[in-house]
Amino acid sequence: MVERIYLSPPHMSGDEMKRVEEAFASNWIAPLGPHVDAFERETAEFVGVKAALALTSGTAALHLAGELLEVGWGDLALCSSLTFAATVAPFYHKGTECAFVDSEPNSWNMSPQALEMALRDCARVGRLPKAVLLVNLYGQSCDMDPLLALCGRYGVPIIEDAAESLGAAYKGRQTGSFGKFSVLSYNGNKIITTSGGGMLLSDDEEAIVRARFLSTQARDPAPWYQHSVLGWNYRMSNVLAGIGRGQMEHIRERVTARRRVFDRYARELGDIEGVEFMPEPDWSESTRWLTTLTLKKDPSRQESPLSVIERLEKVNIEVRPVWKPMHLQPVFANARYYPHEEGRDVSADLFRRGLCLPSGSGMTEEQQGRVIEAFKDALGR
Ligand SMILES: Cc1ncc(COP(=O)(O)O)c(C=O)c1O
Repeated sequence: MVERIYLSPPHMSGDEMKRVEEAFASNWIAPLGPHVDAFERETAEFVGVKAALALTSGTAALHLAGELLEVGWGDLALCSSLTFAATVAPFYHKGTECAFVDSEPNSWNMSPQALEMALRDCARVGRLPKAVLLVNLYGQSCDMDPLLALCGRYGVPIIEDAAESLGAAYKGRQTGSFGKFSVLSYNGNKIITTSGGGMLLSDDEEAIVRARFLSTQARDPAPWYQHSVLGWNYRMSNVLAGIGRGQMEHIRERVTARRRVFDRYARELGDIEGVEFMPEPDWSESTRWLTTLTLKKDPSRQESPLSVIERLEKVNIEVRPVWKPMHLQPVFANARYYPHEEGRDVSADLFRRGLCLPSGSGMTEEQQGRVIEAFKDALGR
């Protein structure tokens, strides 16, 4: 069988091992240690925020963001519908009502006009959300200015889910710096990885101190184990933070490499009728974490995304559908949803027609060529 091409595999540089060896040599194996502190400092500096907290996952970071904003049982949160379930899972589990907001076609991220409708609707019934969850999908920022202005007008704090967008910028400013709290993920498929991990970011240093306390079992300052509140065990280990530091040294190269993969796909597949790549508005500097595209609007005139996935799977190439929006998930069958326009559901359309191509920063030219040929073949070109 020919070698498998994965969607977005880890890409190690070699520098990670040096950091891991440092951790072993100094016996900082137990949780926390100097790599954790340095990884937090270096990440905060890169993103441009005052404080960062390294955690076991992006999901844990989202959970803590919700805790800090006291989003709880019976509250309402508005969230981008087109996302991975982890964005909302911590809120769902707390008994928070999640209502969903559509994407706009220019960036595939939250539609400002749909958010406006949602907030107006919430204000009308006197129940504003406790938080708005903005998600930067596939390495691209949301259109922050109008979204921030709307949330500011209604006084609703933003949690920015930048799990997929480390290294991307909006009008020159790094994503992960726009939320009251922002979240990164170092899951194995992300642009850099610690094999699993996440980061909570904020300019509110005091809140991050509180999150640090909650993420280490909320131990009161007492000579015995005493708890005035209960917390979680969510901190990243020193060994994994060592991997993260080694990865972070190469973040710019990784962005360049992913954009280069995208450019080649766009060059060689861009003129196939019906194929459209995720747009990059002029305010966005996407990392192209995943190259994503849509097929024709009329499914009777082109292969469906699922048949393309099957065809590429036969030659051992991993291709995935675009996220299935939350408002179409059985678990959220009764949730409220605000489309981009009356009668126009952008995220549902992106899901029905969308595909993610292999986009790893370590992809060889030859691997890219294999994907291109197999994709053309699947579309009968
Ligand atoms: C948009 C989004 N949010 C949240 C997460 C959760 O991150 P983690 O897997 O680190 O918990 C992910 C990825 O896994 C993601 O893609």
